[in-house]
Amino acid sequence: MTFDIPFAKPSITSKEVEYATDAAANGWGRRCYDYLNIFETRFAEYLDVRHCIATSSCTGALHIALRTIGLAPGDEVILPEITWVASAAPITYEKATPVFVDIDPLTWCIDVRKVEAAITPRTKAIIAVHLYGNLCDMSSLRDIADRHRLFLIEDAAEALGSTWRERQAGSIGDMGVYSFHGTKTLTTGEGGLLAIQREDLFDKALIQANHGRKSSKRTIFWMDEIGVKYKMSNIQAAIGCAQLERIDELVTRKREIFSYYYKALVDLPVAMNIEAVDERNSYWLPAVVSLERLDENRRDAMLAKANEVGIGLRPFFYPLTRFPMFQELPQSPVAARVSRAGLNLPSFHDMTQEDMDVVIRAVRKGLS
Ligand SMILES: Cc1ncc(COP(=O)(O)O)c(C=O)c1O
Repeated sequence: MTFDIPFAKPSITSKEVEYATDAAANGWGRRCYDYLNIFETRFAEYLDVRHCIATSSCTGALHIALRTIGLAPGDEVILPEITWVASAAPITYEKATPVFVDIDPLTWCIDVRKVEAAITPRTKAIIAVHLYGNLCDMSSLRDIADRHRLFLIEDAAEALGSTWRERQAGSIGDMGVYSFHGTKTLTTGEGGLLAIQREDLFDKALIQANHGRKSSKRTIFWMDEIGVKYKMSNIQAAIGCAQLERIDELVTRKREIFSYYYKALVDLPVAMNIEAVDERNSYWLPAVVSLERLDENRRDAMLAKANEVGIGLRPFFYPLTRFPMFQELPQSPVAARVSRAGLNLPSFHDMTQEDMDVVIRAVRKGLS
């Protein structure tokens, strides 16, 4: 028997189609930024931050953020060893050095107890990655960043809708970045966003995001420095506006799916995404880690079997130190173990209870 249970896909209704159609038909000339402006304004309201800059990807948003803080060759940026490569790649674009820190065994986010040991005179920033919707310990990271005068950037690509003390993930650090890739809770196809609280950083970010152009200059073609360009299109923003109107529904559905999986798997020797007191986890991606029952070979065999019949199980992210670009760095113990024993479950909004039951059976079988 085969199934059609992809790992991820967005929830698209007539609202997204209507707004995108309007943008395609009418969003040009004087109206060419209408949806973009609305998207940025409403997103800032949703996050409760001062400013948002919509981008073509989260990778681009993070690159703008790093240029905004003046990251220079030889500077160091601390980040967790397990994340999507996009958290680290923009550091290297600026010829700076990623410094990886092991993950916490419970949250799978950066282990705050190990951060200070990684700080050197060259450290410029910490990137707090909220993995799979789980939240980093933001109060400890804020404290460390303040004591060492470091910038704190949140990579909330996977955590839109997660909150800590009712503050949105990505709105707590100096800047936060989000992804609207087609696999994410809210999508614009491809897309991202940079959220900023500080006025001084916003002014710099705007210049960086606009090819180095200062808006105060007398001619629109005058440039003072080299910047970057990662702009979101008005049509993408139209889809984003529709999705943002549905954000509570989208997050609620993610939470329902996680809860269904959790209840069905909790009797097994597994760890799943965590939600601490004071937190709400938006559960972008349900993850199952079984240090007791899985090693890499067994996990990969289980995924291959499931994928063969159309069940979109995926492996946990690899520690970035396993890749050729970073392989001279030592692998951290928790990252190494969790990554080899972990997998992600399909969690697209429109999946049915029968779909989830199929996934659950595959996981139980793989762990038996
Ligand atoms: C943690 C993390 N950071 C950054 C990104 C990059 O997002 P994008 O694909 O929009 O550039 C992703 C995307 O999956 C991610 O998971």
